[in-house]
Amino acid sequence: MAATTRQREQWSSQTGFILAAIGSAVGLGNIWRFPGVAYENGGGAFLIPYLFALLTAGIPILFLDYAIGHRFRGTAPLAFRRLHKNTEVVGWFQIILSFVISVYYAAVIAWALSYFVFSFDLRWAPDSLNFFVGDYLQVGDPEISTQIVSGVAIPLVVVWVAILVTLALGVAKGVEKANMIFLPLLVVAFIGLVIRAVTLPGAADGLNALFTPDWSELFNPAVWIAAYAQIFFSLSIAFGIMITYSSYQRRKANMTSSGLVVGFANSSFEILAGIGVFATLGFLAWDQSTTVGELEGLSGPILSFVTFPAVIAEMPGGSFFGLVFFASLVMAGFTSIISILQGVSGAVQDKFGFGVRQSAVGVSLVCAVISIALFSTTSGLIALDTVDQWANNIGIVLSAIVMTVLLVWVLRRGEELRFHLNAVSTFKIGRWWILLIGVLAPLLLGYMLLQRIITLLT
Ligand code: PFF
Repeated sequence: MAATTRQREQWSSQTGFILAAIGSAVGLGNIWRFPGVAYENGGGAFLIPYLFALLTAGIPILFLDYAIGHRFRGTAPLAFRRLHKNTEVVGWFQIILSFVISVYYAAVIAWALSYFVFSFDLRWAPDSLNFFVGDYLQVGDPEISTQIVSGVAIPLVVVWVAILVTLALGVAKGVEKANMIFLPLLVVAFIGLVIRAVTLPGAADGLNALFTPDWSELFNPAVWIAAYAQIFFSLSIAFGIMITYSSYQRRKANMTSSGLVVGFANSSFEILAGIGVFATLGFLAWDQSTTVGELEGLSGPILSFVTFPAVIAEMPGGSFFGLVFFASLVMAGFTSIISILQGVSGAVQDKFGFGVRQSAVGVSLVCAVISIALFSTTSGLIALDTVDQWANNIGIVLSAIVMTVLLVWVLRRGEELRFHLNAVSTFKIGRWWILLIGVLAPLLLGYMLLQRIITLLT
């Protein structure tokens, strides 16, 4: 039976949809990416371009994703095909981007799972950098060792099995349930971590380092670009994921109000993560009698897998803090990766008419094999870094430009989508929305894309 004639899966409630959308948005990007990006781009002053990007592009493009998914009731490729017979390829482009990210994202969740276990005996002490790069990832060693199998491959299998089972249970019983369980747990765990962090000695210095504004940075275009990039990745927009999620919404659903809740919840979590991370780094600086500015490894995997473990080894009750921190990373990452793969698996269902279980098993197995093969060798890690740079930096911005220009200028469906959103929502959007997604966003994003291509090529 063709999937398009089968009853479409549905969230069991509006709350379920909102939780799943927040679960997708709140992920590794919030915990390890935001604090470092904010710190490097003007500290407190970064909040201005960040909020500007949230209001002028983040939430408006989130509305656009919602409108496309809800109006055309399909995952990205099907929704775009229904929009116009020649635009299905835009949806598949988004699905490919999602696939690339999932392969990398799963590996980081697997590392976090290993580090959760290592927290019991603080296995990374005393040299967390050597432990991560040498003992754990065995970078530079082309052989697949027993350590790589037990430390990386097995947790990766565990992660992929969990993804497969969740997706195979379907949208309401799998994805929605997982978010209902993990999101509240994550919030409680994270608030606990932040309270602990801000009561450590030196915390105030860490917060000063993060929030002291460097106003001159507001004149630096790179800072604005960084703000837009952070908002896109963090809100999971222009990956086709939010199109997919909103296609499972009932016909009568308050779309724009949900979008506002999701947008602000995600940013609140992000700022909370910034506070937690920098308060903890303030403690590290205090412990080493130095300043936060002198510390290294303040973002990305190194922050989570080298710098944080170093602090955890030094603090009172470190093991417990480590357990809660790595459990938080796993939960935040898991609710994001299932959204990415639901996008891929849903697209396969829509296109080929496979059932939920068949396509969940098929997609998870293919992605799992690639992810395990790549991450069990160092060369894979290096290749993936390049691919990820292109997918995240170029691909996503390109996707957003194509989507907005196509809808507003080429197909001229902006007004129709605005009416659609307003017909079902309590928060009504005016014509300003078309101006934001049709003019301001493509112009700024076009500029950003050029800059990024130039930096990557030079
Ligand atoms: N928003 C997630 C994060 O901040 O970590 C990452 C992500 C999820 C990106 C889903 C893209 C996506 F489609």
